[in-house]
Amino acid sequence: MKLFVSCGSPQCLKVLAAAERAGLRREELQEAGPEDPVVPFLTTPRLPALQLDSGNFLFSANAICQFFFLSLGEEPSDSTNQWLEWEVTQLQPVVVVALYHHVVQGKKGEEVLGTIRKQLTYIDDSLAEDGKPYLTGDRESVADVVLWGTLYPLISDSSCFLEELKSLQRWFQQMNFSEPCVKAVEFMLKGKGCQVFKSHLQKQPLPVIALEKPASNEPEEGELAERIISEEEIMAAVETWTRGAAACPKLHQRQHPILPLDNEKNILITSALPYVNNVPHLGNIIGSVLSADVFARYCRLRDWNTLFVCGTDEYGTATETKAMEENLTPQEICDKYNVIHTNIYKWFQISFDYFGRTTTTHQTTIAQDIFRRLLDRGFLLTDTVEQLRCERCQRFLADRFVEGICPFCSYEEARGDQCDKCGKLINAVELKKPQCKICKASPVVKSSKHLFLDLPKLEERLEKWLDQSLACGDWTSNARLISRSWLRDGLKPRCITRDLKWGTPVPLEDFKDKVFYVWFDAPIGYLSITASYTDQWEKWWKNPQQVQLYQFMAKDNVPFHSVVFPCTQLGAEDNYTLVNHLISTEYLNYEDGKFSKSRGVGVFGDMAKDTGISADIWRFYLLFVRPEGQDSAFSWNDLMLKNNSELLNNLGNFVNRAGMFVHKYFDGCVPEMELNREDKKLLVHVTLELHQYNQLLEKVRIRDALRCILNISRLGNQYIQINEPWKWVKGSQEDRKRAGTVTGVAVNIASLLAVMLHPYMPSISVAIQEQLQAPRDLNLLAGGFMCTLPTGHKIGTVSPLFQKLEAEQIEALRKRFGGGQLKTGPKPEVEVKAAAPVGDGARPADPQKVKELAAEVMKQGNHVRELKAKKAEKLLLDAEVSKLLELKKQLSLMEGKIIDTPSQKGKKRK
Ligand code: MF3
Ligand code: ZN
Repeated sequence: MKLFVSCGSPQCLKVLAAAERAGLRREELQEAGPEDPVVPFLTTPRLPALQLDSGNFLFSANAICQFFFLSLGEEPSDSTNQWLEWEVTQLQPVVVVALYHHVVQGKKGEEVLGTIRKQLTYIDDSLAEDGKPYLTGDRESVADVVLWGTLYPLISDSSCFLEELKSLQRWFQQMNFSEPCVKAVEFMLKGKGCQVFKSHLQKQPLPVIALEKPASNEPEEGELAERIISEEEIMAAVETWTRGAAACPKLHQRQHPILPLDNEKNILITSALPYVNNVPHLGNIIGSVLSADVFARYCRLRDWNTLFVCGTDEYGTATETKAMEENLTPQEICDKYNVIHTNIYKWFQISFDYFGRTTTTHQTTIAQDIFRRLLDRGFLLTDTVEQLRCERCQRFLADRFVEGICPFCSYEEARGDQCDKCGKLINAVELKKPQCKICKASPVVKSSKHLFLDLPKLEERLEKWLDQSLACGDWTSNARLISRSWLRDGLKPRCITRDLKWGTPVPLEDFKDKVFYVWFDAPIGYLSITASYTDQWEKWWKNPQQVQLYQFMAKDNVPFHSVVFPCTQLGAEDNYTLVNHLISTEYLNYEDGKFSKSRGVGVFGDMAKDTGISADIWRFYLLFVRPEGQDSAFSWNDLMLKNNSELLNNLGNFVNRAGMFVHKYFDGCVPEMELNREDKKLLVHVTLELHQYNQLLEKVRIRDALRCILNISRLGNQYIQINEPWKWVKGSQEDRKRAGTVTGVAVNIASLLAVMLHPYMPSISVAIQEQLQAPRDLNLLAGGFMCTLPTGHKIGTVSPLFQKLEAEQIEALRKRFGGGQLKTGPKPEVEVKAAAPVGDGARPADPQKVKELAAEVMKQGNHVRELKAKKAEKLLLDAEVSKLLELKKQLSLMEGKIIDTPSQKGKKRK
């Protein structure tokens, strides 16, 4: 038996899952190119295909799935067969269309799911009606696998939009977690997401389906590529526009202390408390504080009652070690570094409502209170622990100071607390061949009495809570997976005390020389820091009924926030607020490797300001490459490209031109506007992007929402380019009026962009608002796209917002931070993992990337030609053309060619 699959074909997903389930061996699986004539007698190549031992072939995906289930002795029931028929005839045709929208055209959310809502609702209803976990009852059948495989590419990364379809969502998650499905996804997507299906989908003929739209519109080939705008949408957009800012409520004045209020949306935001003993690098910053900041700013713009707290995580061995190194006391180290952190975040404009620290009396009081409650309720155990002690260093070794071979996966450089390869938590004594990280001696095992949190006893409660939080909250998918896998493996008691001095003391006579382990203690810091902010902290932290808690972190922090700390809170039984939304990022790499303090590789928070690049640009770029869903990399070249293309050429150019037209042609006053049909359609397009932006940010999809801003500005640029106000303004009275309308609409779009930009680039946002004298402190996001700068409004002085980054400048920065010149002196710091070697100095753009980009340029060129041949809608065509130009520009930048940058003086450019 041999199963042939092609990784680009969505149909292979279900087949692989079914094959996994039937235990297909690796050598029976073969990858083939989409054009390979695997089945010799077919006129067009088809994959997946299964060659049976008899030599015969099966080449329909569902038949192959059936085959595997039959091989397990699982005969299909009538109901299973009915689902399979339904899937082929009802589901697949619409899914193909929706997938095309999603993968090829990059559409998201409602625009995609709208097409298949009926079908999704049907599945949801069926599941809800029977109240059974699977489509055909209590057991998974081939129907579940087949439907899952069909839906996965479509809803895996927007399953949050399924909110109201609870049963479907539950079923889908459950399937996602089953091992065959996990394996199939791994094999097919290889971590790249659904983009792997793109080229396959582009080649498929699209089935024409009847979309609901005005009867007069003949469906025609290529129509699917266009967003059809209805009369209702136009009317609604015009109405909103006309209402203007006057109709817009003012944002509430924020007054400290901010406390939860009745009948308000009360949002508590935390970002993981950064270790005090080192300087955070860009990866740390994007992972927690910057992401949380964008969300906090967005919430405040929506006028939601929001509190954002954070602070330094100060206790633990790492601090003691650092103190030894710098010849200071631990307290002095904390004081020193707390200031460093504070200044870095200030520079990055992180808008904490309060930034505190964990070494306070509040921390001691609250941690000891929680401890007592756990003790009283029987959730603590005592045990003697074998512990590693380095005789040479004369101390017990904290987990992180031991390295050895992982007992689970045999990874050689596992840390004493966790293995970076398999992610499992480790008890340091279980490490094979342990080594003291400081002096490399092999530590000895000594015993000592310790306290343990009885997680097994709390497991059931945790599971109940977690189910409910995952169902109702916006957890990122890595957070969901990590938490689930923790529970699946079963919880073990966890030691919460340490033989150390620098920590919160354990309030028991028997343990008076011990302190709490940082991972027990630190999350309590969220509470104690809030207590330092207001004595009414319990209104936030013991108020799950009124408060929605959003916690931001990198993925290595997830288990502590989703399992260990919630168990602490549940066990203490004091009506604590538990995390509702856990937002975790993947990792950000630096160029081709990792950030490494010791090698001087990477940009650390305190150096960013020495680059001459402003905080807003840093924010923009980090948010643009935010590692959502998969690891991403900081790259100097890419930073330059994004600055020069997205910010300078796209956003800055648009805002600047709009403002300059008002100045130059209309004496700085917004002219009269009389909207024609094209203008009104533009209002709809802008409104749609704004909606999308809101939807995404409500789900904390920070990186995707940023794309909406850039899309609007692209629309604005095209609008100006098509309508050429600089020409019309020289014509007749009527012509001049047209130029006025275009200018007025454009400058209002700029005003909207300023608001939308605020969470991402707060200074640029303010700069635009000042230049345009646009209203601030209004709740402008929720209402739609409004005319906020009415006829007669006088704008201020307009000046360029962005500067071009030059290749030489970037090269110099790369040299400086790229690790080419190792500083001599500082000994390696144990906290930072060694980085992959990073080449020094100038290197040409990656030829592979150049090739890929060239291919993309060609593809986009073809796409544009096709659209032209089809006489596609002008707005759409222009959007595609400008994308093409953008790509070409990027390509020439990469190839090192010099290209013209537009004049930033607001002169027309042609
Ligand atoms: N200091 C930890 C880190 O940087 C995070 C601690 S978060 C807390 O990984 F919740 F435990 F405080
Ligand atoms: Zn040692």
